[in-house]
Amino acid sequence: MQLHDLTPPHSQSVVAPEEVVVRLVVRLNGRTHRLKYHRGETLLETMRRAGLAAPFVCEQGVCGTCMARRVRGEVALRENHVLSDHDLASGYTLACQGVPCSAVCEIEVDG
Ligand code: FES
Repeated sequence: MQLHDLTPPHSQSVVAPEEVVVRLVVRLNGRTHRLKYHRGETLLETMRRAGLAAPFVCEQGVCGTCMARRVRGEVALRENHVLSDHDLASGYTLACQGVPCSAVCEIEVDG
């Protein structure tokens, strides 16, 4: 991943999730966690509610510290000022801005 200028933001999607997401699967530090997702939460909020020590700094979609790889399902980003179109096409997303929008969503996070 490369850091990019703050403008223009690269948008993965700004469409509000339509489907009800019931489960978020997170691979973190070699362990797999199956978490109950609450509508409207970001990936990071769900992980923190579950007590997972997921990395983050800005929570603004700027620093990239929370970068995760989408393994399965769809994620819409509220803001993205760091990931390029290539990063997004490669499956990377931001946990602090990512909202799952498929029935099951699975991500991999480097702790
Ligand atoms: S914590 Fe900085 S982009 Fe997510």
